[in-house]
Amino acid sequence: MTDIHNKTMIASIMHAPVRGEVDICLDALMIINGEGQIEEIVRPNDPSYEKKKSEAKQDNSLVQLPSNQFLLPGFVDLHIHAPQWPQLGKALDVPLEVWLMEHTFPLEARYSDEKFAERMYADLVGSLLANGTTTALYFATIHKKATQLLADICLEKGQRALIGKVVMDNPDQCPDYYRDKSTETALEETESFINYVHSMKNNTADLVKPVITPRFIPSCTDEALSGLGKLAQTHHCHVQTHCSESDWEHNYVLDRTGKTDTNALADFGLIGRHTILAHSNFISDQDMDVIADKGAGIAHCPLSNIYFSTAIFPLKRALEKSLRVGLGTDISGGPSASIFETCRFSIHMSRTLEEGTDASLPADERGIENSRINFREAFHLATAGGADALDLPVGRFEAGYQFDAILVAPDAPASPIFIDDELDTLDDQLQKIIYSATRANILSTWVSGRNVFTGKS
Ligand code: GUN
Ligand code: FE
Repeated sequence: MTDIHNKTMIASIMHAPVRGEVDICLDALMIINGEGQIEEIVRPNDPSYEKKKSEAKQDNSLVQLPSNQFLLPGFVDLHIHAPQWPQLGKALDVPLEVWLMEHTFPLEARYSDEKFAERMYADLVGSLLANGTTTALYFATIHKKATQLLADICLEKGQRALIGKVVMDNPDQCPDYYRDKSTETALEETESFINYVHSMKNNTADLVKPVITPRFIPSCTDEALSGLGKLAQTHHCHVQTHCSESDWEHNYVLDRTGKTDTNALADFGLIGRHTILAHSNFISDQDMDVIADKGAGIAHCPLSNIYFSTAIFPLKRALEKSLRVGLGTDISGGPSASIFETCRFSIHMSRTLEEGTDASLPADERGIENSRINFREAFHLATAGGADALDLPVGRFEAGYQFDAILVAPDAPASPIFIDDELDTLDDQLQKIIYSATRANILSTWVSGRNVFTGKS
């Protein structure tokens, strides 16, 4: 497949710009400019459609895809620990605090070795593009050099990426072998990484952006947290951290600060329109009001929450309070790199919350009413929802948005999807895609029109 720059593409599109609704159009005509931005979408019933099609044919800029393959917006993964890639599918039988100390910190410490970092990060970014993740919000490690390498690799491979050098300076919670040298070093290196990303050659379109990244309150001193809050104000960049993830973590913050994670982070100046809070399972209604008021976003990580959260995130309640929510794999707390899989788990977990788990209780006392989401809502969260939480012009097929897209073939080799043209409406076909597609169904991935992955067809 080719780059889509200064081209007219005819393709069947499926997207979900509005939560709960999907828009499907066979053979839509899209005019895409030299920067990979969608200039115009023309539907087959538009009087100018045939004329625009024949003009593109004449000047050799027409790319026409088969009607039975579908373009979906590329996925936005709002929470990935890049260094944990080699740990995917391992070590999920212990609680969060044990997992960090016994498995995760020793692994992340290895990224002081840049050769090791390069090998792992190159494989990760390639795999995510093959899985259709066009925008990734990454935690790296405490190492500035390896974090710069991750930025270089994303830019070279063409993934839209927001990347943070992780700050961990608290000697009470971080081992000697994996801790910032001092609070000052942590702040200096964060600022120097921000400057590095802004001065990267070929990053003129801001494909890669820096993110201020306190790992979570337990791993940071108060001085680091308020210093990072100030940096966020100076540099106007994104902020990410973990928020109220598990009983242990939520209670640690209550004991240390007398506040919930949300209120403590807000007081450190770390909650604003460009903040993404991972998990947030234990947030109260008052926390939700603070998050909504500041316009911050939430990375919902349903698969990882099964292992580490000790509760289910009240997704529907957050959405009804107008919080900006997207989905995160939380590699490797969640053992899958696929946002298709994350969509499914967001549906499963919302159903579990609604229906309950304890069979010894009467049905009407088991769960929490009105908690479920459907496949349309999950698809929205995975695309437009995540993009809106980051304020990025991606996640939907509309004029003015970047052409970040995946081409899905329900009949690809090794596809788990069976479509019957007589039985399955287009809406059924999308439902089948969301419920069962794997990376085998993704034939191509584009970011700003650049073809960043081509699979088998
Ligand atoms: N809290 C602090 N660090 C981590 C991490 O790496 N993964 C998850 N799931 N939670 C965390
Ligand atoms: Fe995480």
